[in-house]
Amino acid sequence: MTNPIIKLENISFAYPGATEKILDSLSLEVYHGDRIGMMAPNGSGKTTLFHTIMGLCRPDSGTIEIFGSPVSTEQEFQAVRSRIGLMFQDADDQLFCPTVVDDVAFGPLNLGLSADEARDRAREVLATLGIADLENAITHRLSGGQKRLVALASVLAMEPSVLLLDEPTAGLDNGVKEKLVKILNHLDISYVVISHEFNFLTAITDRVFSMESGKILSDDEVRIHQHEHMHKLGNHPHKHV
Ligand SMILES: Nc1ncnc2c1ncn2[C@@H]1O[C@H](COP(=O)(O)OP(=O)(O)OP(=O)(O)O)[C@@H](O)[C@H]1O
Ligand SMILES: [Mg+2]
Repeated sequence: MTNPIIKLENISFAYPGATEKILDSLSLEVYHGDRIGMMAPNGSGKTTLFHTIMGLCRPDSGTIEIFGSPVSTEQEFQAVRSRIGLMFQDADDQLFCPTVVDDVAFGPLNLGLSADEARDRAREVLATLGIADLENAITHRLSGGQKRLVALASVLAMEPSVLLLDEPTAGLDNGVKEKLVKILNHLDISYVVISHEFNFLTAITDRVFSMESGKILSDDEVRIHQHEHMHKLGNHPHKHV
């Protein structure tokens, strides 16, 4: 087997001033081509895990390797960060430019593309996501769902090697969710997606992990599944999560 592109080993982390370990000897390996879902209760540490991979939270102990190299200093994280596309849980943490096209072109510009190239790439990604018409919109005036799509566009425009999507469907209508499923299934990219939506996760991933007590539970250990049961007062079986 090839080397993992993300490897966390025995990572422990508590927020400064807090005693509770949010991550507790957590280990995780993500390989090229992996399409991993993450479904776990509110507050179980999913977002903290993503922030740890990006170097936004620094572990108290344990080791992180990204693309085969150990990363622990800001400089080392900076070197790999642009190749990992983190879509923040809150789109407002991602978007800070006046207009949509500026926001989406920001990453490519930072990667060294010319202003024209960055703009072209931004337009291309906006078109792929079906929001080309938002190009010149004022970002902070967008609806919540529109902001999430623009946030996703800004991540995809960086053409990262791996995507970390933190609840990408929150606030999206069903039509847009379906479009997102199609887009993710057509992307030739590894990703880890946090979501509370079972159907969405099973449509776009091969494995679904959970988190408990600061550790990852793999799909061998958890049985997140859909099953049929009977209505108390009816004969019609229905599906639920
Ligand atoms: N900046 C912070 N400072 C202190 N504690 C924090 C901070 N961010 C998160 N926490 C705490 O860490 C725990 C895990 O939070 P985290 O956001 O990682 O959970 P989550 O699994 O992403 O939850 P959700 O499904 O609600 O997004 C929570 O108890 C939260 O209160
Ligand atoms: Mg979260």
